[in-house]
Amino acid sequence: MTGAPAPLPDTPLLTAVLEAARSPGIRLQTPVHQGLPAWRERWPDWALADVTENEATDDLGWPEGPVQSARLALAKHFGARASWFSVGGATLAQQAAFWAVAVTLARRQGPPVVLVDQNAHVSVLRAMALAGLEPVWFGGPWDANWGVRRPPRPADLARLLAEYPAIGAVHLTSPTYFGEDADLACIRAILGDAVLVVDEAHGAHRPMALPAGADLVVHSAHKGLGGPTQGGYLHLGGHGVDEATVDRAMRLLQTTSPSWPLLAALDATRSAASREGGSPPVLDDWLAGLRLRPTRDPVRRLVAFPDGVAAYAALRAAGHWPEAALPRGVLLLVGGVGGERAGLLDVGRCLRSEAERQRGLPRMPVPEPPALGKASLGLREASLSPSLTVPVREAVGRVAVEPICPYPPGVAVVVPGQVVSHDHLAFLDLHGALPAYLQVLP
Ligand SMILES: Cc1ncc(COP(=O)(O)O)c(C=O)c1O
Repeated sequence: MTGAPAPLPDTPLLTAVLEAARSPGIRLQTPVHQGLPAWRERWPDWALADVTENEATDDLGWPEGPVQSARLALAKHFGARASWFSVGGATLAQQAAFWAVAVTLARRQGPPVVLVDQNAHVSVLRAMALAGLEPVWFGGPWDANWGVRRPPRPADLARLLAEYPAIGAVHLTSPTYFGEDADLACIRAILGDAVLVVDEAHGAHRPMALPAGADLVVHSAHKGLGGPTQGGYLHLGGHGVDEATVDRAMRLLQTTSPSWPLLAALDATRSAASREGGSPPVLDDWLAGLRLRPTRDPVRRLVAFPDGVAAYAALRAAGHWPEAALPRGVLLLVGGVGGERAGLLDVGRCLRSEAERQRGLPRMPVPEPPALGKASLGLREASLSPSLTVPVREAVGRVAVEPICPYPPGVAVVVPGQVVSHDHLAFLDLHGALPAYLQVLP
């Protein structure tokens, strides 16, 4: 006999979050403070800290008091000309950056076109569609061994700039989601006066873009820095974009009722980073016997498997929370888990037994996804078009109106305006990321 379905909890979301927070498994995901942020000792009761903008706290859009002082400290820490807090993550910082680029290009009477690195997160596509900018895609070499795209090479960029001399702005993602850095100093040197925007969302704990001369730099607080989720920073360096333009862009996009606990945590994160220089390194002895992809990033561990999706599932079955599954590996973040020795040893045991189970399976190369850029419609036009939802197999040969991205890392396999092909679907399938339906042009 089947009983009555269990009643839904009165607060489904609160219940789910509290259960996740109390889960005994090891969190190897963002936020990399993993429940133990460096600023927790200075944290007053959360509910009491949920105040509003007033004479004591200041105003996010027109700061004159503590927000202004905190922004100056932020800019000083990162070596920026000016810095802003984002209460809409790196996503909002990205939108403001592209808005400022659009304004700057219009003032220079240049085309509203940006050279964009294919490792761009989906927030880049959305920010460009909002700002009315169109991408010309380029990318680094495909590493078929791991199924990841490496950062762009300066020589390839130089060739492209010669092909598109009117282009006034370039957007790079560095480090990549897998912790690899572009040669930003060399790239800056070949760009001339083109605006350089760097999405350094995964690198705020080892910042390189501002010292290399980037004009606008997007940071996420929770991806490497040990800060709170939904927090970000936007920084102005170089001289390609003026401060008032960025300031206006941030006012245009930010809420007028920001979360003060979030802002306070962003301030405290910066302070902890300047005092302690980020999370203490986590030793890798718990990963002994496993093959790791080399990286300079102290919080990232990409572990090789013939079948990364199965390795991810094995960790989940053991109650742990890996960051991402790849066809040929599983990604773990280790910022705040250094003290969780017993848990880490269990993660290591679990990975080794999975490696044993997969022993003898060939580690096949991952085919490169079809190139971006063969769009039949512009990004903005496609994004604003009417849409039809179709089962994924029926989308082949039709024009996508939304990006299709395995998430994480949220890097597009299909961009709005592009015709969907069988190769796209095969690539998504290999990543275990084939959606049931797609949004296409009617
Ligand atoms: C490279 C990159 N940039 C930007 C973002 C957006 O960050 P957020 O989700 O914090 O707004 C992400 C998110 O994963 C990302 O991977």
